[in-house]
Amino acid sequence: MIKESPLAPANLGEENGVRSAPLTPTMEGVAKSNQADTGNYFQAPIGTHDVLPPQSQIWARVVSVFAERANRFNYGLTITPIFEHAEVFERIGDASDVVRKEMYEFRDRGDRRLALRPEGTAPVVRAFVQHHPTPPWKVWYVAPNFRYERPQKGRYRQHWQIGAEALGVSDPDLDVEVVSLAAGFFLALGLGKTRLLINSMGEPDDRIKYTEDLRKYFLSSGANLGEEFLTRVKENPLRILDAKKSEWQTMIEGAPQLSDYLGDSAKEYFSKVQSGLKALDIAFTVDPRLVRGFDYYTATTFEFVSDDLDAAQNALGGGGRYDNLAQEMGGDPAPGIGFGIGMERVVLALEAQGLAEEIIKDSASLDVFVVDGTDDEVAALVVNDLREAGISVDRSYGGRSVKAQWKLADRSGATYGVMTGESENKNNSVAVKNLKTGEQVEVRREHLVSQIQNSKETKR
Ligand code: HAM
Repeated sequence: MIKESPLAPANLGEENGVRSAPLTPTMEGVAKSNQADTGNYFQAPIGTHDVLPPQSQIWARVVSVFAERANRFNYGLTITPIFEHAEVFERIGDASDVVRKEMYEFRDRGDRRLALRPEGTAPVVRAFVQHHPTPPWKVWYVAPNFRYERPQKGRYRQHWQIGAEALGVSDPDLDVEVVSLAAGFFLALGLGKTRLLINSMGEPDDRIKYTEDLRKYFLSSGANLGEEFLTRVKENPLRILDAKKSEWQTMIEGAPQLSDYLGDSAKEYFSKVQSGLKALDIAFTVDPRLVRGFDYYTATTFEFVSDDLDAAQNALGGGGRYDNLAQEMGGDPAPGIGFGIGMERVVLALEAQGLAEEIIKDSASLDVFVVDGTDDEVAALVVNDLREAGISVDRSYGGRSVKAQWKLADRSGATYGVMTGESENKNNSVAVKNLKTGEQVEVRREHLVSQIQNSKETKR
């Protein structure tokens, strides 16, 4: 029997004034390890996780590397609501699993049909249509997304994406810019082995013809492959091309290829994108089976994959053009292109490459630990002066003994211990101890900031 966690969508239920989308039929495995079975509700819901220090330092680094790069490319931060009218996401593709099976959809107390964001492109396009910014509108975001999937390593019910979108212009140079924004981000993080796959989905008419032929091919040659296969053929045969099922692979290998269906203009556009990437020395492989999961894609599509991750979840990020989406949301025609990168998968790749620990070590450096030897306001003033001067400082609380405070100072990883004391107060000075060497000197309070700032150890 399928029993759902009270925190999963099927059971959000009447009590919360929320109604939800139907369950996927594939959740038995998840139900077994469900909090409802153990009665332990005070844990993060299945498929979600807390990101705590010091691991959160990796997240902070990833976001800051991306933000700095996005700024250099003139993309501005955009923040959209965590939920939208469900219709916004229905425009990204009724045939996609994300919309049909995985959306956290509910009615609010005003009976509005809403959905938690399953991906980042649709809200950005909705904002573009709503606010009419001047094109090209180039934005980036970092935001959580919600998909009711079977949780496994690298696949969660809440995941974070960092991404960028550029709207209002169709130009191969812009496609190259967007890909290069992402490619350089992986390089900057040290994930230089990430592989880039690209493809073209062609114009909508090319794709309609291709989809029809693909359906015919699968129906004539794969009739014995079972119900799931036939359902996919009926609903969206493109979704078979990127399926990992081993028993389908021979069929997939013999399938017609989209590249043979591209019209002249789509071919020319795709070839310009490829020369642009070559000019910038961005290595790529054309993968004719790269179709991506949403119906909105037109023309260029791409994916960054890492061999450090399990094959079924090896995409670090992906994206492509969606030239008709703005119109489908009731806006004027406005082509667009962008990508989303899975934060959790980037962190997994950094861990696999042995880079995560280095980031944590790098970011966690505390300059000073202040030891309060007088139990008056002097220690607080010293802490404040140093912090306001840009030096990282911590101290202990709760009236601990000086000995206990020095122990904390040693354990804190700080470079210097700074102690206030009766005799030092009289001289308007403090004791400064190098916690690595044990060397101790007395420093006048007015020189403390410059002394710490100029020391080799704290200079970054
Ligand atoms: P997507 O391929 O569905 O594309 O997701 C982008 C990335 O998010 C994936 O490559 C993966 O790294 C990560 N991801 C997706 N689902 C999960 C999950 N359940 N758990 C962990 N990570 C996940 C999009 O969402 C498009 N909006 C990308 C885009 C932007 N296309 C154009 N612009």
